[in-house]
Amino acid sequence: MKKNIDWSNLGFGYIQTDYRYVSNFKNGAWDEGQLTTDANVVISECAGVLQYAQTCFEGLKAYETDDGHIVCFRPDLNAERMVSSAERLEMPVFSKERFIDAVHQVVAANADFVPPYGTGATLYIRPYMFGSSAVIGVKPAEEYQFRIFCTPVGPYFKGGVKPLTIRVSDFDRAAPHGTGHIKAGLNYAMSLHAIVDAHHQGFDENMYLDPGTRTKVEETGGANFIFVTKDNTVVTPKSGSILPSITRRSLIYVAEHYLGLKVEEREVEFSEVKDFAECGLCGTAAVISPVGKIVDHGNEICLPAGMEKMGPVTQKLYDTLTGIQMGRIEAPEGWIHVIK
Ligand code: PLP
Ligand code: COI
Repeated sequence: MKKNIDWSNLGFGYIQTDYRYVSNFKNGAWDEGQLTTDANVVISECAGVLQYAQTCFEGLKAYETDDGHIVCFRPDLNAERMVSSAERLEMPVFSKERFIDAVHQVVAANADFVPPYGTGATLYIRPYMFGSSAVIGVKPAEEYQFRIFCTPVGPYFKGGVKPLTIRVSDFDRAAPHGTGHIKAGLNYAMSLHAIVDAHHQGFDENMYLDPGTRTKVEETGGANFIFVTKDNTVVTPKSGSILPSITRRSLIYVAEHYLGLKVEEREVEFSEVKDFAECGLCGTAAVISPVGKIVDHGNEICLPAGMEKMGPVTQKLYDTLTGIQMGRIEAPEGWIHVIK
């Protein structure tokens, strides 16, 4: 039976569920892994994650579909991205097959926490890995833990799909040749001061520009950008220091193959932004959150789509993507993994 949760009023927060998955890496190998009811982690005071932030994570969602199944969306791509993150952070790889199997186990075990179809909520799944053994010299840990928990969530931004106001950040998120392209916890630690400051100043998020020249659009703290030109071309920034968003890659496919739109993945100059018709933030948590206004040091760019609702192309992308995720629209082969 579903848990007694006010599904329609959930925010993006943590609710402890019944089961999580744990596997430990020791003496050069991962153990067989298991589900546990213990939500606490006990590690050395000198653990690699605590001293030198040796940790990476993933984020994906499970959905209840209109015909009552529980599915998750493209976990294979999260598994692959976690391999890249682990390799870049000198952590052991947790195999793609085991990652997908562990996601299935956690979601199936917590099926009562998967928000019912139509409530607008979803089950957010958080796989993560960290150095658990002691390191005091700057070097990788020898032991690691891989875990997955899940939590029912509502919209990432308060107000759901109301257009956001964002600002151009004076702080950088990721350096060229740094770690911006992987999902390292350290990238998010870097962004905390910037987001707290943005909120204090009344903005919903930060637009980060490329740190090298500060002329090109990169991404926000937790989502990639999608722009729409006045002649309905979808434009999305290409950069070696942004996270390769699975939502963005899926939206590009949806735009081209479902909606027949032209898509350009290329460098986007900040000076072009004033000419776009629509702007949205895309990610697992953000889904597609429309942006109505972008403020650059007092200079306001008001997108023609406005502050009341998302623009027409953004809306079509949103409806098609969420339709695929919730079983209303046929998915491309392999996108939907049926769990139950
Ligand atoms: N960019 C950043 C910095 C993120 O944290 C995320 C969230 O995972 C994304 C983009 C969107 O990626 P995805 O669509 O794979 O969730
Ligand atoms: C996600 O969308 O999964 C993320 O990890 C982004 C984070 C801001 C919650």
